[in-house]
Amino acid sequence: MTQVDVLLGLQWGDEGKGKIVDVLSPQYDLIARFQGGPNAGHTLEFDGKKFVLNTIPSGIFNEKTMNLIGNGVVIDPIILKRELDNLQKAGHDPVAKGKLVIARKAHLILPTHQLLDAANEQKMGKDKIGSTLKGIGPTYMDKTGRNGLRVGDTTLPDFKERYNRLVEKHKEILSHYEFEYDLTEKEAAFFEAIEFIKNIPHVDSEHFVNGYLKAGKTVLAEGAQGTLLDVDFGSYPFVTSSNTTTAGACTGLGIAPNRIGSVYGIFKAYCTRVGGGPFPTELDNEVGETLRQVGHEFGATTGRARRCGWIDLPALKYAIMLNGVTELIMMKADVLDGFDTIYACTHYEHNGETIDYMPYDIISVKPTPVLKAIEGWKTDVTKVNKLEEIPAQLASYIAFLEKELEVPVKYLSVGPDRVQTLILQ
Ligand code: GDP
Ligand code: IMO
Ligand code: MG
Repeated sequence: MTQVDVLLGLQWGDEGKGKIVDVLSPQYDLIARFQGGPNAGHTLEFDGKKFVLNTIPSGIFNEKTMNLIGNGVVIDPIILKRELDNLQKAGHDPVAKGKLVIARKAHLILPTHQLLDAANEQKMGKDKIGSTLKGIGPTYMDKTGRNGLRVGDTTLPDFKERYNRLVEKHKEILSHYEFEYDLTEKEAAFFEAIEFIKNIPHVDSEHFVNGYLKAGKTVLAEGAQGTLLDVDFGSYPFVTSSNTTTAGACTGLGIAPNRIGSVYGIFKAYCTRVGGGPFPTELDNEVGETLRQVGHEFGATTGRARRCGWIDLPALKYAIMLNGVTELIMMKADVLDGFDTIYACTHYEHNGETIDYMPYDIISVKPTPVLKAIEGWKTDVTKVNKLEEIPAQLASYIAFLEKELEVPVKYLSVGPDRVQTLILQ
């Protein structure tokens, strides 16, 4: 039997997962998204074209790869239909080509889940999570609360009644908020999209993925968000509502822990976060603004400006431990091209102590990062495509990270395009 490799973000999301899954997809027979929903925005660039995927796995542009939306994903049918419509307009039709299947057990995001998300965030005011407002939290709440609707339910004769029952519950909750809404248009779009997604083959992802493994085929599980947004281990409550870590690939696809193979942990050469919550190395100054402008750090899903800061090694070590990372992938090295000096946070000063882990009270007591200065490379690396061309200072930054993190950096990304990727090991 083969094993499932996993690729996931080690920071607060937007590390470049979409690009790298696309780069790796020729090596895999199946790419499977295992958690999250359309709060994700995974960007791919090739041949001068750019695509942003929200729900669809990033293996879709590789001719031979099958793509699965796993049971752990929450699906907004309206967004999924829009993604597929856009792909079709661009000449890609994974459904017609038989390259996309969807788990029956994946939960559906209803228009009222989005309303609940918005009503809740509005009520929280300045303490809000900074949700993408895609209805993710309320949908996972209905899943664990055993109220949710699943993809498989759409083919049942009483789907509409089940829908109405759940919507009544949601309306009852909404009546306790000062929140106005009109569902008519969204509801019509929802039912149109439900009919549309019936054309995508529905599968039991647990049997589907294990069938691939039994047949000796290769599988890559694609994570969404990042480790520090994990509902259990992230900077709670400023997290998303799913397990973004390797364990999430087991429950989100239906595979046993001993079926996990390589774990690719992906991180930026610096760090970003979008939405609220602690971010010890945040640079709320000109340097942060430079990282934002040079790195085009604006959300792929919401367009919001991403908060930027230096790389955070205690946070990365934590993420590596939680995920069992076997190989690292460093992204966006080119964004640091212009800096004379870059910095890496090696420890935190926290409550009068020097620590190298993320403390529980990180939200109430902001840790002060202890920074190590590193000489910049002051070279345009976007066209580097041979190992010999990597500037010495960048090579030494990578060697420093490998020593600190005790995991090899296997890939280096020097630009958004597929071809701007180097294999280091
Ligand atoms: P994801 O959510 O992890 O898939 O990442 P996003 O797509 O949200 O954000 C990553 C952004 O960085 C996208 O705009 C990518 O096109 C871009 N990107 C990816 N790798 C690189 C890189 O090495 N250099 C630069 N400059 N941009 C990159
Ligand atoms: P990808 O897959 C970055 C953040 C939101 C917010 C918090 C909760 O593109 O890396 P939610 O909508 O889940 O209720 O939001 O999580 N967030 C992301 N940040 N990248 C993402 O996905 C994210 N998905 C959610 O900004 O702070
Ligand atoms: Mg993203």
